[in-house]
Amino acid sequence: MCGIFGYTGKKKAVPILLQGIKTLEYRGYDSAGIFVSGCAPVRAVGEVKNVEGAGGLTKCVGKAGIAHTRWATHGVPSLRNTHPHTDCEESLYIVHNGIVENYKELRERLENSGHSFKSDTDTEVLAHLVEDAFQKETNLHRALVRALKDVRGTYGIALMHKDFAREIVVARMGSPIVLGIGKGEQFVASDPSAIIRHTDTMLYLEDGETAVLSPGGYKIFSSGNKTLNRKPEKVDSDIGEIQKEGFEHFMLKEIMEAKDVFDATTRGRLDLKEGVAHLGGIKDVEEKLQNMKRLVIVGCGSAYYAGMVGKYMIEEHAGVPVDVEIASEYRYRAAPDQKDTVVLAISQSGETADTLACIKEAKRKGLLTLGIVNVVGSTIARESAAGVYNHAGPEVSVASTKAFISQLIVLVLLTLYLGRQRRMGIGEGRAIIDELMKLPSKIQRIFDGRDAIELVANKYVLNRDFLYVGRKYNFALAYEGALKLKEVSYIHAEGYGAGEMKHGPLAMIDKDFPTFAISPKDSVYEKNISNIEEIRARSGKVIALGTEGDMLLASLATDVIYVPKTIEMLSPILNVIPLQLFGYYMSVARGLNVDRPRNLAKAVTVE
Ligand code: AGP
Ligand code: GLU
Repeated sequence: MCGIFGYTGKKKAVPILLQGIKTLEYRGYDSAGIFVSGCAPVRAVGEVKNVEGAGGLTKCVGKAGIAHTRWATHGVPSLRNTHPHTDCEESLYIVHNGIVENYKELRERLENSGHSFKSDTDTEVLAHLVEDAFQKETNLHRALVRALKDVRGTYGIALMHKDFAREIVVARMGSPIVLGIGKGEQFVASDPSAIIRHTDTMLYLEDGETAVLSPGGYKIFSSGNKTLNRKPEKVDSDIGEIQKEGFEHFMLKEIMEAKDVFDATTRGRLDLKEGVAHLGGIKDVEEKLQNMKRLVIVGCGSAYYAGMVGKYMIEEHAGVPVDVEIASEYRYRAAPDQKDTVVLAISQSGETADTLACIKEAKRKGLLTLGIVNVVGSTIARESAAGVYNHAGPEVSVASTKAFISQLIVLVLLTLYLGRQRRMGIGEGRAIIDELMKLPSKIQRIFDGRDAIELVANKYVLNRDFLYVGRKYNFALAYEGALKLKEVSYIHAEGYGAGEMKHGPLAMIDKDFPTFAISPKDSVYEKNISNIEEIRARSGKVIALGTEGDMLLASLATDVIYVPKTIEMLSPILNVIPLQLFGYYMSVARGLNVDRPRNLAKAVTVE
């Protein structure tokens, strides 16, 4: 859901449009394109500057246009899939942020009625729907309103018609659209930071609303297509601040997107009635997955830890043996994998060299390969035989936060999918989905208590060593929590199985060596309590992560952070958020570059 920018006014549109989408580059994208009235559309894969370099714009003097930076969700990054998209007559031009959930059925209906498609995207169906509606309405705005009645999903849209050179029609459902109100010129963007250089007078569309922009002004319409008279507002002029949407850092912004990520990752995939998950990206290999006898999950860093959580989920609820391998080790190990072994790569970027090498190695052995990947069309996504996209949106901060949460959610969906192919009954499937659907409100409760987490972090900012301990579903979280602290605050931290304390780590414990003990009320709670007592008996400080209302934990631990109760297999999705926030606040307290920690890159494309 990346960047939209539009302009209609007295000036040449091309430079204003290019500047607009350049401002939106920070959100991450894979391709870009623009349409200006009176000129042919220009599209390019890669950076916005490739649009400028594509030629055809120097002589373009049109005074209205729309532009887009694409973050592919349906259809790999390619010229043919780059926005703006057009209709059969090439009269309409549309740019879109979001996902048309029912695009397959719409495309089939449109093709059956004679429409020919040029791309593989979900977006293009919008152009053809408007084309049909325009035949009936002969008014662009009414045509868009009519077309959108058939659409399920999310969208931020800007639309133009080559014969109405100065008019831009916009619509919003679940993906931000803001109007910039100028003198004799109007702007539209998906993010106010692209508009602020022109005007600070802005107006946010609400879900279901549409608007029509022309140089002389704008009109806004309610979801019932009634004219609205909402007043514009003045917006803060600090672009940097706006791009972080008021958060101090992208890492915090992305942690706080957890609920949106939940919605995006699960959208269209949960079937409560049948107690199953629908994963279109692995449908073609359904039979091979039915016959799978063993699953090997490979990844690096946080992706590897997500895989470790997935092991517990899939073994316990789908009955499939799972091995989780650090990619940089697995690729060199002569693993005796049998033909009915499936290799699953987890990778946010889809470009991590070691993880990619594992997929190639598995393919050489003739094994089925899957990917859980966030970047559509990335190398790992293309190399894997099948897979599931996270749809978590671009993750800007080096530390993996919302992507990790999305990976856990996809692993729950995969567990449902595999489990219902095997011994998981409909009742168990429904119970899991029922609990899963309660997570957003529980995530919000954690957000509401984040100041307390900051206070705890500030108490430990001078400590130089940390131990993180957990068991079962939270065993991997101990490692992930330690990694978050290490990579953004540079403090030494070790993840450990809580049961291992007596086998060595306890020797390190003293009043200056605190332990973060992940101890929700679950099947191993009593064991965790014993570990906390062991540590406290040696003057070790304990920050306990526990279930709301657990007063025993509060009496034992030095500090306690509570999370709402959920079923065991879902607890890591909630428990990881305080761990991410703790690492974030420690980094801020130490005055470090939270989003760009030293020595690290967002994607490790080298070995
Ligand atoms: C996690 O916060 C780090 N950014 C790093 O460990 C990351 O998870 C790892 O490099 C894997 O990246 P990928 O998911 O893009 O493959
Ligand atoms: N779903 C559309 C596509 O894949 C829009 C993606 C975006 O939000 O950039 O082209």
